[in-house]
Amino acid sequence: MMEKSSDNPWTILIVDDENVIRRLLCHKLKSEGYVCIEADSPQQAMEKMHEQPVDIVILDIMMPGGSGIELLPDIKKHFPGTIVIMATAVGDADTAIKCVRLGAYDYFTKPYNLDEVVISVARALNTRRLELEIYDYQQHLEEKVQIQAAKIRDAFMNAVMALALAMDAKDEYTSGHSGRVAEISVAIAGEMGLSQSAVENIRIAGMIHDIGKIGVKEEILNKPGRLTHHEFQQIKAHSVIGERILKPIVDEQEILDIVRMHHERFDGNGYPDGLSGKQIPVGAAIMALADAYDAMTSDRPYRKSLGHAAAVDEIKKGSGIQFDPEVVEAFLRIETKTVPNTVSS
Ligand SMILES: [Fe+2]
Repeated sequence: MMEKSSDNPWTILIVDDENVIRRLLCHKLKSEGYVCIEADSPQQAMEKMHEQPVDIVILDIMMPGGSGIELLPDIKKHFPGTIVIMATAVGDADTAIKCVRLGAYDYFTKPYNLDEVVISVARALNTRRLELEIYDYQQHLEEKVQIQAAKIRDAFMNAVMALALAMDAKDEYTSGHSGRVAEISVAIAGEMGLSQSAVENIRIAGMIHDIGKIGVKEEILNKPGRLTHHEFQQIKAHSVIGERILKPIVDEQEILDIVRMHHERFDGNGYPDGLSGKQIPVGAAIMALADAYDAMTSDRPYRKSLGHAAAVDEIKKGSGIQFDPEVVEAFLRIETKTVPNTVSS
């Protein structure tokens, strides 16, 4: 027998008005391991097909209850995957050809040669199996593509995270900066009651917000003295570079916006786009504050940490100027609880 699967064998429906012929065919096909069901009229055939899936129909043409030729298009319409093999009288080649044109897979001539029937059924089931495999493949293809794409994105994302951590770790002055910015931002976002997915995006954005600094020369990033206008322009480019690096691998627009806009200011004097007020997405406004707080409470090549209390004062003073007042309020409610105020202060 052509294997389908052990718990789901192939099912063959024999449609013939003559009881003896049905019995004979059924007996032979069952002995080959197939499941056989019977119908004595076109009407009963349709009923049986609606009751259970059928792989092959062996369909007699001449029946008192209606011609098999009339039933054939109905079967093809309602069960397009089911294979139909017609049983014709000897010498009726025209009818056989007509049936094949209507979608029949093959035809037998009566009286049956049972060995030929077995061979033809096996051949038809091979076709059916291939069709089912193709159907199954197509059904799952999109799903598989999505899973693969997600895996590739995850792998890239992990690489980007690792790169961000490596960049942080390399520089003693910014060591742990991204992690702290992520932590402070998440605390503020939570206090502001943002959705779980928004908070998660803010956490990720915090980890990678400065990834664009990979495109800025190290001597400029670490320059102890005052920056020239040109050098400052290069540093400012990091937010746009970061967005460009992440765009092919990050689906969430919120994350890309935060990376691009984390140096915007509430008064419109920030960069790169000079957005102001509520034009700045809340995630970016939160990150701007967290970034500034961590910068003020860390030692830098050109100055010592301000310490927590002085940094909080600066943030208060910057409310409505550099920072979104709502974000400042949320920060002030949590600054004694969750902000790691002992860091570098
Ligand atoms: Fe930055």
